[in-house]
Amino acid sequence: MPPLTLWLVLPFLVLLAAATTSPTRATTVASSFHGQREFDYFAFALQWPGTYCKRTRSCCPTNGCCRGSNFPTVFTIHGLWPDYNDGTWPSCCSGSSFDPKEILTLTNSLEQYWPSLSCSKPSLCHGGKGTFWAHEWEKHGTCSYPVFRNEYDYFVAVLNLYFKYNVTSVLNDAGYVPSNTEKYPLGGIISAIENAFHASPQIVCSKDSVEELRLCFYKDFQPRDCALGSDIKINMVTSKKSCPKYVSLPEPVSVSKTGTMDFKVGAMMM
Ligand SMILES: *[C@@H]1O[C@H](CO)[C@@H](O)[C@H](O)[C@H]1NC(C)=O
Repeated sequence: MPPLTLWLVLPFLVLLAAATTSPTRATTVASSFHGQREFDYFAFALQWPGTYCKRTRSCCPTNGCCRGSNFPTVFTIHGLWPDYNDGTWPSCCSGSSFDPKEILTLTNSLEQYWPSLSCSKPSLCHGGKGTFWAHEWEKHGTCSYPVFRNEYDYFVAVLNLYFKYNVTSVLNDAGYVPSNTEKYPLGGIISAIENAFHASPQIVCSKDSVEELRLCFYKDFQPRDCALGSDIKINMVTSKKSCPKYVSLPEPVSVSKTGTMDFKVGAMMM
């Protein structure tokens, strides 16, 4: 090759090398929001107050477990999380911070259906700690782009999802009622959800207590299985990892301001 031609070709060779060493780069840039690839599906995480509130050691105004007679007795919202099919997820996808003013009109509903069930302040994306809602929006909500383009739309959609998919009533109707003595087959709980919503959930346990129940959705909010492909064959692999074959659904209890359990209200649940 004459020297002149080599000089013309060289820059292309460098570009080619760059493209082959980072094959994902081009696609990432094309479909990303603040540097992260667009997500594949949503996981809608619900928390069981009977399991969460049992852990309360001290109270604070922001802890829903400490609300006297107004404490939660049904599954409450943890968050709506954009996920990737490979089991990883994007997080902190925007440079902007949570703005409580944007969801001011939703505060009452959020306090009732999306309470924090602990006193710890979760971390935020741009330093420091903040409220449960701020954490959920900054860490997960911002990654729901382009399905949701702002904080308000995200929170409204999560509330609507919560009203539409009432996990507590599905479990109650199938006989899985809160109890401090009964143990229920994990497979039965999973089947009850599958029969109601036509997709299989993920269940997370703390020892043998149900701690979270997650429903999964495509980006258009059609239900889908939380585990895909080979996971389905081994059947509920994600739940098996953390739950035993028989699980309990502890009765939610009210926690007094000093952090001790006040009274049982299993009957209130019905
Ligand atoms: C879900 O069902 C439970 C039990 O039937 C009921 O108490 C609760 O109000 C329902 N929640 C919503 C958001 O509709």
